[in-house]
Amino acid sequence: MKIAVVGTGYVGLVTGTCFAEVGIDVTCIDIDQRKIDNLKQGILPIYEPGLEEMVTRNVAAGRLHFSTSLAESIRDADVAFIAVGTPPGEDGSADLKYVLAVARGIGENMNSYGVIVTKSTVPVGTAAKVRKEIEDALAKRGADIDFDVASNPEFLKEGAAIDDFLKPDRIVVGVASERAEEVMRRLYKPFLLNGHPIIFMDIPSAEMTKYAANSMLATKISFMNDIANLCEIMGADVNKVRLGIGSDARIGNKFIYPGIGYGGSCFPKDVKALIKTAAENGYQMQVLKAVESVNENQKSVLFSKVQQHFGSDLAGKHIAVWGLSFKPKTDDMREAPSLVIIDKLLDAGCTVTAYDPVAMKEAQHSLGERITYAKDQLSALIDADALLVVTEWPEFRSPNFEVMGRLLKQRVVFDGRNIYDADEMEKAGFAYHCIGIRTKHREPASHQTA
Ligand code: UDX
Repeated sequence: MKIAVVGTGYVGLVTGTCFAEVGIDVTCIDIDQRKIDNLKQGILPIYEPGLEEMVTRNVAAGRLHFSTSLAESIRDADVAFIAVGTPPGEDGSADLKYVLAVARGIGENMNSYGVIVTKSTVPVGTAAKVRKEIEDALAKRGADIDFDVASNPEFLKEGAAIDDFLKPDRIVVGVASERAEEVMRRLYKPFLLNGHPIIFMDIPSAEMTKYAANSMLATKISFMNDIANLCEIMGADVNKVRLGIGSDARIGNKFIYPGIGYGGSCFPKDVKALIKTAAENGYQMQVLKAVESVNENQKSVLFSKVQQHFGSDLAGKHIAVWGLSFKPKTDDMREAPSLVIIDKLLDAGCTVTAYDPVAMKEAQHSLGERITYAKDQLSALIDADALLVVTEWPEFRSPNFEVMGRLLKQRVVFDGRNIYDADEMEKAGFAYHCIGIRTKHREPASHQTA
């Protein structure tokens, strides 16, 4: 089997490389020549654990190719994945111009039957637009070539994408013909060996599944953040409540960790897009609107705690920040809560020194020279009035509190991810503030801003 993957962003690169890993001949295509040149040498545009080695290995084995030529790569491909970006427009809806341009390119160049699969997260109805685009392009060149479209949403978590791809909980494929179903089943066969299901359905349902999955997960997070804020006010401990509810199998213990709001490339964008699509079709997604507003609010919670501790005049305070990426094991800064928190600190007249194990280079694109970047986690603490833990990188979990206390000007920690034990922190002489637990050093908060 031969496949083409158009778009070497996060999704395209992981998809193409993992298919090559199981022996399929894959060409990854991008219009960015520099990106392609780099990829040929094993230089990746993103950080994802294990991916660089996997790319290098499969390029060397001759199964993974990189090209800027859609025309050449598409000609004899059995399956073509469209994995280009769908940036949110100003109104929150997904911009399909790149997806449709690729569809047109495929129609202009395909030579024989193929299945054209949308892998980018696209609104319900997009596969039909892709079909139309290809049909028009084929008609223009007078070509009579049979093809199918399919929708195959991805559920990859950044930082764990390879594992998610190789051992998926499920594979969802929307198809409109038996022939396409057969091709897709054959393609995914190597990933189904451990009994992971492949679920075939109609195309609109597959498209909707992706939005419903991400929206449900975002809902869990906002719900827990709401409960956490209430726990604090009422003197309950959200960590205990989390364990208490999570052991009910209907609720489950995953994805119920309170924090400083969800970020990343998917949740904020997909929640917004679904609200928008629904509104365009005359329906109001009331739960999701609340999910979004709780999340916006939650990004300010850590800053409010800083203000409550030090008073509203923060001018001249020096703050250390551990973690910049929106979550651990990625350098992705898209919609990272750290950006909101740091902006607020800087606006209030603070100076900030940050450390992140991998995201500092990426962070400079948005934060530039407005903050200082520390060479390691401990040196970030020197002379700081407080430490803010923003991303729960494993290396932040068991620091030497004595050394930390000596480096900091004041023993004050604001933990946005609840990675420390409140009692232990108190014993080590820290004023410790976290999410959803009323610790000794603080009054119950009122987080409500709206
Ligand atoms: C998500 C989905 O999990 C994935 O299936 C989809 O394909 C893309 O979007 P990702 O964006 O990589 O993946 O991150 P994820 O690990 O899901 O975390 C998203 C955000 O939620 C992060 O900001 C994280 O910090 C936050 N989160 C997650 C919480 O605040 N609490 C939790 O319990 C879990």
